Amino acid sequence: MVSFTSLPPDILILVLEDLSAHDLFSLSLTSHALHSLIETDGWSSYLRKNSRPSYSLTQARRKWAPRISARFDADADHAWSSLNFVARPLARPWVGRLQPLLAITPTRLVVGAGSTLYFYKFGDTTEGSSPPVVQEAIIPLAEPGQRPRDITGLTFVNDDGHDRTLYVGFQDRVVERIVLVSEPSNQKSALTAVRTVIHGLSPDDFVENLTAQSDKLLSLFSEGDIFLTDISTSAHSTLSSINLGARSWTSRLCLNASTPYAAFGTSSTTPLSVYTIREDQFSDTPFAVLHTKENANLPPGQIRSTAVYGLSQAPAEFPWGSSPQVIVSGWFDGQVRCYDLRSSLRCSSNADSQKRSPTPLSPVLSLNNPWSYEPIYSVSCGGGSASYVAAGSARHSVVSFWDVRSPKSGWSVHAPGNDKSPVYSVILESSRFFGVTQSRPFVYDFGSGVTEETYPSVPKTETGSIKANGLTVSVAM
Ligand SMILES: *[C@@H]1O[C@H](CO)[C@@H](O)[C@H](O)[C@H]1NC(C)=O
Ligand SMILES: *[C@@H]1O[C@H](CO)[C@@H](O)[C@H](O)[C@H]1NC(C)=O
Repeated sequence: MVSFTSLPPDILILVLEDLSAHDLFSLSLTSHALHSLIETDGWSSYLRKNSRPSYSLTQARRKWAPRISARFDADADHAWSSLNFVARPLARPWVGRLQPLLAITPTRLVVGAGSTLYFYKFGDTTEGSSPPVVQEAIIPLAEPGQRPRDITGLTFVNDDGHDRTLYVGFQDRVVERIVLVSEPSNQKSALTAVRTVIHGLSPDDFVENLTAQSDKLLSLFSEGDIFLTDISTSAHSTLSSINLGARSWTSRLCLNASTPYAAFGTSSTTPLSVYTIREDQFSDTPFAVLHTKENANLPPGQIRSTAVYGLSQAPAEFPWGSSPQVIVSGWFDGQVRCYDLRSSLRCSSNADSQKRSPTPLSPVLSLNNPWSYEPIYSVSCGGGSASYVAAGSARHSVVSFWDVRSPKSGWSVHAPGNDKSPVYSVILESSRFFGVTQSRPFVYDFGSGVTEETYPSVPKTETGSIKANGLTVSVAM
């Protein structure tokens, strides 16, 4: 009889691949040979098979041994399934009601609120504990005495990993390229902004949403003008543009799918449409129109107008496969609808009646919060086991979460401060959720080892509460 450990190492590695973190740990205690095999190969193959994408952990993970990362992820997965997290505000409340935006890179988080950018840097960490988030800089983009010019669009763009280039759109229709420069000597702020106004993006309205991928920038203007711009040169030439002919809210650019596409959320009878992008050109007509199940079955003339405000894409390791073809969307009626562009759930009843536009595609999954029918303003995917969807709603600072493996048992939680605000922007990572209300940014952290020092200190004046299936529990803040 052949003993397990005398099998060739590449066979052993195959066997190890399917084990849980707990099993790997137990097995590594059984013999020296297995211990060293698991140290050299076991944990890294575990991490490949169980990837938990997270911007804010990127730098810490570079320093962690694979075993430490695997342990952190397994603990975070467990914390998600047992609703064990820490909620923290990231700032004191702002004055007035703002409509802030979030953007993130492996180096930092930025919050655009009013006409100011607030930067938070991801710090260093002791092994295996949630790395600190440190307030880095506050950069006002309006001169004192100038008319307020609220930020309406905000995105980091690819700059070879420097994470210091962003594009910002303003209410007054201007779009700027901003490059951050470190100024360690400046006491007030570790960063300053070098700003350039981008010409050529000039429809008659303001940027509602900015997204970027590789060296392409997608700008969506409020009345439906869309520009795809080459940002690799200072000429900023427009590659392609279309007009959606509707009040437009959100966009998602996916250039690395087998069929590259952009998806758009609008207020209309076709509130979620997908255009292919071939050789940097938008298709003339939508490649897919995504709708509610009810509307997808109606004849075109009877389809009701509704709105999509939030869009996201399934992360790697999502239970349905890490396909860029899975689109998650937040709707006016309070539902989060998930679509699989590969699916053939297209309704055929009106296939011939509308020659130029495709038949609407029905969702493969709809998620809702039975305690809130408020519109969904923002969505993001990630979380424990990479299988959660988070949605920010239009009122009472409610964030809802669902595990798509058991979509009926969602739960929701109010942002720290519990105000009446919408949750305007959300970012879900493996162990952290970032969100922002009209009053401030906040975080829920499901990682190990969170302490008072992990987040900027903010006077503790309020308490948070969590509602899980109707049950209200207090949360440490
Ligand atoms: C643009 O829309 C996407 C998808 O909803 C969202 O993730 C992003 O935060 C939005 N950005 C801005 C600047 O509104
Ligand atoms: C496509 O690009 C996105 C964003 O840059 C990235 O998160 C994703 O992993 C990529 N997907 C594939 C299939 O390469």
